[in-house]
Amino acid sequence: MNTTLTIALAKGRIFKDALPLLAHAGIVPVDDPETSRKLILDTNQSNIKLVVIRSSDVPTYVEYGAADVGVAGKDVLMEYGGEGLYEPLDLKIACCRLMLAGPAALKNSEARMRIATKYVATTRRYFAAQGKQVEIIKLYGSMELAPLVGLSDCIVDVVDTGNTLKANGLVPLELIANVSSRLIVNKAAMKMKHALVQSVCARIAEAVEIKEQKRTNSNRLQAK
Ligand code: ATP
Ligand code: PRP
Repeated sequence: MNTTLTIALAKGRIFKDALPLLAHAGIVPVDDPETSRKLILDTNQSNIKLVVIRSSDVPTYVEYGAADVGVAGKDVLMEYGGEGLYEPLDLKIACCRLMLAGPAALKNSEARMRIATKYVATTRRYFAAQGKQVEIIKLYGSMELAPLVGLSDCIVDVVDTGNTLKANGLVPLELIANVSSRLIVNKAAMKMKHALVQSVCARIAEAVEIKEQKRTNSNRLQAK
C-alpha cells in the first residue's frame, strides 16, 4: 500500500516561503491556497496532501496526527509548548525576532508593566525567569495599537524590519527569542512512515542548505 503524507501549512508568508523548499522535495501543490477555497490541497504526488490552516493551529494538527508533518514559527512552537512533537529541521524562513517593545520612555524601566500580547505563556515564562512580575493582556492581533490607546504599557510581538513599531512610535526594548520556521513531525508518523518522512525531510534539508549557500555567496560578493 502507498504510504500517505499530510503536511500542515499556514497561508501567507510561511506558505510562500515553504513552496520552493517543498518543490525541491518534488512536492508541488495543484491548487493555490490564496485563491482556492479548498482546505485540503492536492499535490502533484497522489500520496501527499497539504492542509492549509491558521499558523497557531499547525502544532495541534501535527501533535494529534491530523497532519504528519507541519511548518510552524518558533514563536508559535514556544507558545504551544509540550513534548508532543519532533522538530528536526530549521527551515530558516519567516525569520524575525520575538521582542518586548514599547515607548522609548520605558527603556530600562523597573516599574511593573502591563503587557499586551498573543504570546501569553511565553511572556509569562520569560518574565518569571527574571523574577519580574508583569500583568499580561491577551490580544489576537494588532498588538502595536495597545500602548497607543492606553490598553497596555508595552507589547510582546514579532519584529522583522521594525517598520510597524516605528510607524506607531514604539521601539524594541528586549529580545526574547530569535524566530524562524521549523519543520515539525508527528511522533507516530516518524516511526510508522519513517522512510517517506525521512526522504521528505532530507530533500527539504538539502534545499535549505542550497539556499543558505547562495545567500552566503551573495553576501560575500556584496561585501567585496
Ligand atoms: P495566526 O493566523 O495563527 O494568528 P499569524 O497571523 O501570526 O498567525 P503570519 O503573519 O502568517 O501568521 O505569521 C506566520 C509566522 O511567520 C509567525 O508565527 C512568525 O514565526 C513569522 N512572522 C510573523 N511576522 C513576521 C514578519 N513580519 N516577518 C517575518 N516573519 C514573520
Ligand atoms: C507581523 C507582526 C508585526 C509585524 C512586524 O504582523 O505582528 O505587526 O509583522 O513586522 P515588521 O517589523 O517588518 O514591521 P503581520 O504583518 O504578519 O500582520 P498580522 O498582524 O496579520 O500578523
